[in-house]
Amino acid sequence: MEQYGPILPGSGESAGFRGFRNSPGRGQQQRAPAPRRSRILKPLTTPYNRTLHSFAIFTASATFLLIAAGALVTSNSAGLSVPDWPTSFGSLYRMPPMVGGVKFEHGHRMFAEFIGLLTIALALWTTRADRRPWMRKLGWAALATVIVQGILGGVTVLNGLPPAISTAHAAVGQAFFCIAVAISLFTGQRWSGEEPRTQVDLRRPPLTALAWVTVAAIYVQLILGGMFRHHGMRLLPHLIWAAVVTLLTLWTTLRVLSRHGQVEPLRRPAFILAHLLAIQLGLGFLAYLTRVVWNPNTAHPTALMVGATVAHVSVGALLLATAVVLAIQVTRYVPVVSDETVEGTEGAVPA
Ligand code: HEM
Ligand code: HEM
Repeated sequence: MEQYGPILPGSGESAGFRGFRNSPGRGQQQRAPAPRRSRILKPLTTPYNRTLHSFAIFTASATFLLIAAGALVTSNSAGLSVPDWPTSFGSLYRMPPMVGGVKFEHGHRMFAEFIGLLTIALALWTTRADRRPWMRKLGWAALATVIVQGILGGVTVLNGLPPAISTAHAAVGQAFFCIAVAISLFTGQRWSGEEPRTQVDLRRPPLTALAWVTVAAIYVQLILGGMFRHHGMRLLPHLIWAAVVTLLTLWTTLRVLSRHGQVEPLRRPAFILAHLLAIQLGLGFLAYLTRVVWNPNTAHPTALMVGATVAHVSVGALLLATAVVLAIQVTRYVPVVSDETVEGTEGAVPA
């Protein structure tokens, strides 16, 4: 069953709500709660720009590689291989010999500068090409985030990698990745050209709340993991919180798949999220074995330990970004229902 459809030009009406307003017949009057539309996710009003969309996807994909490159710096204990910032060994442009830890650290810096340039282009292009004011703001928010991220990278080097600043650098990097993924989603053809047929879900807690709480829980988890990884905290909080993340993620994904599995933009991220969770738990266990049990001396990293921990950080980023995509889609397709009721919404069948 088609659950979403193109908006009719000029109708100014949601395809989803149109279904609500059709009366099924006399004597069947009932009152259904009115979905509250989120202003920020209000769809439509910009033409689909394929090149801009591809560019946003390229920026998000490159950012994912940069996160893996950053994790390589940490896992190889290469964070202080280049001691100064914003210069590298006293120069802004001269390439240092790319040996030992320098190739990870300086390579990461150069890659980060490239992402910075992509983000400037993305913000300018969005401002020019996208009619939605909130999208333009998001483009500039992406740029502000990447600037903060670069400064945190420099500040942690200048201060000898304090756990709090290195963890903040890890966490803001993941937030930036999520913004880049969200921009890719918002510039997509389906988002720009279609208005969704919304679904009614009367169950408690509201699915929107559940999905966003799951995002928050994953974010807290990567901060706890980062604090352990940067020697600022024990591993136990990260392990306990893994159980919370697992329960919330399963709750959200099962509810989406069982209640709204026919809506493809909801089913796909829910399905991917559940699988990423399983992979991430396995990688977490491997990271634990290789880093904590077999290789407690991080000054001499083994290839297996580097591989396991870099994969754990990278899949953590994918998990977070997929949870964000799911939460955005849930907000769009299953809006929160308010207590106020509307007459004549009897066509709506609660999911
Ligand atoms: C778009 C910009 C950037 C992103 C997305 C990014 C991302 C990351 C990530 C994900 C990590 C791994 C954290 C971890 O494994 O816990 C990392 C590590 C690191 N990054 Fe960046 N980074 C960026 C820019 C920079 C810049 C400009 C510098 C400049 C010096 C820098 C310096 C470092 C250092 C030194 C580490 C290792 C920290 C440690 O081991 O304590 N980063 N980065
Ligand atoms: C869904 C659950 C989990 C998520 C989302 C997650 C995420 C993360 C992330 C993002 C980091 C690195 C943070 C950073 O510096 O950027 C990390 C570190 C770590 N995690 Fe997890 N994790 C999860 C479950 C687990 C489990 C179950 C274990 C152990 C059995 C585990 C063991 C570790 C270890 C040992 C580290 C530090 C690795 C190192 O020192 O290099 N994680 N986790």
